[in-house]
Amino acid sequence: MAAAKLRTTVLQGLGGALPSRAVTNDDLAKTLDTTDEWITSRTGISTRHKVEPGTSTSDLAVAAGRRALENAGLDSVDMVIVATSTPDYRCPATAPDVAARLGLGTIPAFDLAAVCSGFVYGLAQADALIKSHAAEHVLLIGADTFTTLVNPTDRANAVIFGDGAGAVVLGAARDGGAGRFGPFTLGSDGTGVDLIRVEAGGSRQPVIDTADPTAWFTMQGRAVFAAAVAAMADSCRTALNTAGWEADDVDHLVAHQANRRIMTMVAASIGVPSERAVIHLDRVGNTSAASIPLALAAHAGQIRPGERVLLTAFGGGATWGAGTLTWPALEAPVIDLI
Ligand code: COA
Repeated sequence: MAAAKLRTTVLQGLGGALPSRAVTNDDLAKTLDTTDEWITSRTGISTRHKVEPGTSTSDLAVAAGRRALENAGLDSVDMVIVATSTPDYRCPATAPDVAARLGLGTIPAFDLAAVCSGFVYGLAQADALIKSHAAEHVLLIGADTFTTLVNPTDRANAVIFGDGAGAVVLGAARDGGAGRFGPFTLGSDGTGVDLIRVEAGGSRQPVIDTADPTAWFTMQGRAVFAAAVAAMADSCRTALNTAGWEADDVDHLVAHQANRRIMTMVAASIGVPSERAVIHLDRVGNTSAASIPLALAAHAGQIRPGERVLLTAFGGGATWGAGTLTWPALEAPVIDLI
């Protein structure tokens, strides 16, 4: 008797959304003590997109989610997860509103907060829900508007972050094939809580006074740089081992788009040629939980079905994770400008 085939999770749809307002390095240099040369050489970023007042994380999430559903050819799913650290409200979560606006009915919908690792955490969560038969299809959206958290006069951080949303539809399959996700590896280290943080606005310090520096996003740039390289490289090695892949098997390394130098160093550390590292942050900056799905959507045309993709992220918490994906045959995904 043939062995029963294992249930696997496959990528069935992809989409994205960016605010229509693009902000170049030269635009920033008009009001900040910075230059295009400094930003490009230190980060690899040329442009980012910024929401106008009145546009929120959910608006980007809805647009990206709609595109991912269209791309998958579906008008219903069993669950919606929104990975975000910039929800529309401190309470309630963003996902139920997104699900309702997408016409998905009364399905379970919840937010997941792991900052820039949120999308990889979300993939691992969705994969577990699908494998446990809790869902056949999950819409996972990474959406963030970090320009609403960063003090616009803070040159160190204002140059790095952009707003956006990226979405995937994940479905159940038997043994998969192209589109199949491999096992995920996740980690956290809460002793690094102050590496990346907004102190005010939570239960510890509920009052937000924008004249107080604790109201704004802070980051220990150099420490984050070193921790991000180490954690992403380590989790990539674990993900490769569990998938049974060698570094040379990786056709595309899609790392969280934090800094071009970070991605190059991760590639070098794990032995993946640097030209296989997908670079998207030059056009959008660091979009936090949206960065991996947006990079996948933007580069989908350059990835052939059956090619091997390694995903990895690092973010506030500190949190990190990695996983593997064998690329599916997809229609060309759309990234909306809203
Ligand atoms: N323009 C010009 N100068 C700037 C600047 C800007 N936008 N931002 C900072 N500087 C200055 C600093 O004030 C400092 O000046 P000083 O030497 O006179 O004090 C100098 O540049 C070096 O600052 P430093 O913070 O040490 O620079 P760096 O080489 O570490 O680069 C980051 C700063 C933020 C780009 C870098 O640390 C980084 O990318 N870290 C990781 C951030 C990240 O990816 N976070 C997301 C992970 S989820």
